Amino acid sequence: MRKRQLGKSGLLVSELALGTWGLSGDAYGPVPEIEVDRVVDRAAALGVTLFDVADVYGGGQMLRVLGRRLAEKTTQIALKLGTNIDGYPVKQFDKTYLRMALETSLERMKRGTANILLLHNPSLASFDEDETFAYLAELRSAVQIKTWGVSTGSKAIAERAIERGAEVLEMPYNCFLFEDVRSLGTTLREKGVGLLAHSVLAYGLLAGSFTDSREFYPPDHRAERWNPEDLKERIAQLAALRAVMGGPLPTMRSVALRFALSNDRVTSAVLGPRNQQQLDQLIRDAGRAPPYMSHETLGDLERALKAYGVTGL
Ligand SMILES: NC(=O)c1ccc[n+]([C@@H]2O[C@H](COP(=O)([O-])OP(=O)(O)OC[C@H]3O[C@@H](n4cnc5c(N)ncnc54)[C@H](OP(=O)(O)O)[C@@H]3O)[C@@H](O)[C@H]2O)c1
Repeated sequence: MRKRQLGKSGLLVSELALGTWGLSGDAYGPVPEIEVDRVVDRAAALGVTLFDVADVYGGGQMLRVLGRRLAEKTTQIALKLGTNIDGYPVKQFDKTYLRMALETSLERMKRGTANILLLHNPSLASFDEDETFAYLAELRSAVQIKTWGVSTGSKAIAERAIERGAEVLEMPYNCFLFEDVRSLGTTLREKGVGLLAHSVLAYGLLAGSFTDSREFYPPDHRAERWNPEDLKERIAQLAALRAVMGGPLPTMRSVALRFALSNDRVTSAVLGPRNQQQLDQLIRDAGRAPPYMSHETLGDLERALKAYGVTGL
């Protein structure tokens, strides 16, 4: 497994990370505990060193799993905090709350430090709280965290986070949603900000196996995400990915994964497998080394996406 520098943070992380939202059961429906353990173990055995978690995933259960299954010395955790499910408001980033959430998370993971602390979907207004950023600086000086950043789906919030000193962003980035990350590219490079790219399969859509009549039911978040017409349109747009398949890109998954990895602003693609088989497929299809996608193929893909009406927004 290759590694990439996480911006200027000094951390070196695997270019494929394991995301744990899907494994938690919160996002797509339940996953048997034994399978969760197997996926985490297998990811570590295959060389994944970076694991992405939020304190709320599985009501804290994913923190315990990572703590139990992973060696602290050889793995890094990207820990998202700021959602107080019992609180009002639910999103909280003040020092008192963050301190409590960090202590609870470290205790659940049985770790002394969190490598990467991410504010989990803050609003623009959250960045006005000077105390929050003084506290993050304090944590870094005391080596309780190595670096901090922000997880967001908004370009405006990403820019504000960078202004406030964030060294890491976690954002969605895939063949259907790329414009925000692309337009941040120069800033990310100039400021030395690492990027964790999530939803590289657009919640499974870019694996190419959905049929027009596919339906989702709660608690699968996709039940709310796409109405039948949206889904039909998106499935039709997959023809753009199909157009460049072949040779080193044998599956639609490989097109999606290599699209993400071929952007050198991306430090790590955060994968979302829900079982061992999916993990193995993802790691195999991502390829082992650059070039993940030739310039020519990237150009062909971009033209095809445009032709099928994909705006990247
Ligand atoms: N705000 C945030 O910080 C944020 C937001 C979203 C995600 N994330 C992180 O990123 C991780 C991944 O995000 P995501 O769930 O949106 O990712 P994704 O990779 O776009 O989608 C994951 C879904 O793709 C399908 N899939 C996975 N492997 C597959 C394979 N080999 N073949 C076919 N289908 C496959 C599975 O769904 P089915 O098999 O059911 O179709 C899975 O639930 C999360 O676990 C989380 O750690 C963070």
